Amino acid sequence: MPTQNSAEIIPGMTLPEPRLLDTNGRVHSMEVRNVHKTFGDFRVLQGLNLNFVDDAITTILGPSGTGKSVMIKHLVGLLAPDAGEVLIFGRDIWKISERERYEIRKRFGVLFQDGALFGSMNIYDNTAFPLRKHTDMSESEISDIVLERLTEVGLEKSLTKYPSEVSGGMRKRAGFARALVLNPDIVLFDEPDSGLDPVRTSLLNDLILEMHSRHKGTYMLVTHDIRTARKVSDYVGVIWKGKVVHYGEAEEAFNSDNPFVRQFLSGESAGPLGMD
Ligand SMILES: Nc1ncnc2c1ncn2[C@@H]1O[C@H](COP(=O)(O)OP(=O)(O)OP(=O)(O)O)[C@@H](O)[C@H]1O
Ligand SMILES: [Mg+2]
Repeated sequence: MPTQNSAEIIPGMTLPEPRLLDTNGRVHSMEVRNVHKTFGDFRVLQGLNLNFVDDAITTILGPSGTGKSVMIKHLVGLLAPDAGEVLIFGRDIWKISERERYEIRKRFGVLFQDGALFGSMNIYDNTAFPLRKHTDMSESEISDIVLERLTEVGLEKSLTKYPSEVSGGMRKRAGFARALVLNPDIVLFDEPDSGLDPVRTSLLNDLILEMHSRHKGTYMLVTHDIRTARKVSDYVGVIWKGKVVHYGEAEEAFNSDNPFVRQFLSGESAGPLGMD
């Protein structure tokens, strides 16, 4: 395997210039600029640049261990970069107060792997949790929202079940409902399809598309499943060794003649991408 960084070994690679304003002069919801992160002597993020398109679904693909989950933690303010900027609604979340960061975090919905539900709460209470924590709504107002969201994801008959009593797919749908209760502007999914069979994956993808078209928002989804990426993406970013090696419209990514992108998106073992 080459020892240089990926930017130097992939010929013809083009990356979008970071822009804060879109063509309508609006501030972008979410952007990372030249973010670096090292753990010990392991450089995970090595100059990550991504400017997410508002109200679109961007899928992030990339080999295991390449820094995708670490990027999500930077976006939600759980990890601070060593260098670079994480801009949410045009503000660098590491140059504002803890209080302001907390306020910004409320505008995110995050679906962690396996739904990350609280094991000690039933599906209803799990879904109500962000509303009880972050708003002063009455229980009856909360109930309206929770029931609406849980009905949208098909869990209206499982309100009193605990996470351990439902299937993996149901836990993901509950996590998705919970991620949407605060009407987030930004929704992040870390491998929503992992551990699901192909039919459930496909159903969850339909649900993501349906909820996105109903509620809008800037969606970012990390996945290893090329079929998921093909189905839901408006834009595709490919990360390798802590850098973006491809970013563009989904159709363009799937038709790319860049050997790395081709290898990764077709899941072939032959190509520039090795195991290290
Ligand atoms: N808090 C941490 N402390 C030390 N190392 C970490 C920490 N978080 C992540 N890493 C390391 O950073 C690297 C990237 O991890 P990350 O979880 O972002 O990979 P990933 O691209 O999400 O992989 P996968 O596709 O397998 O989920 C891994 O080698 C991981 O061990
Ligand atoms: Mg991960």
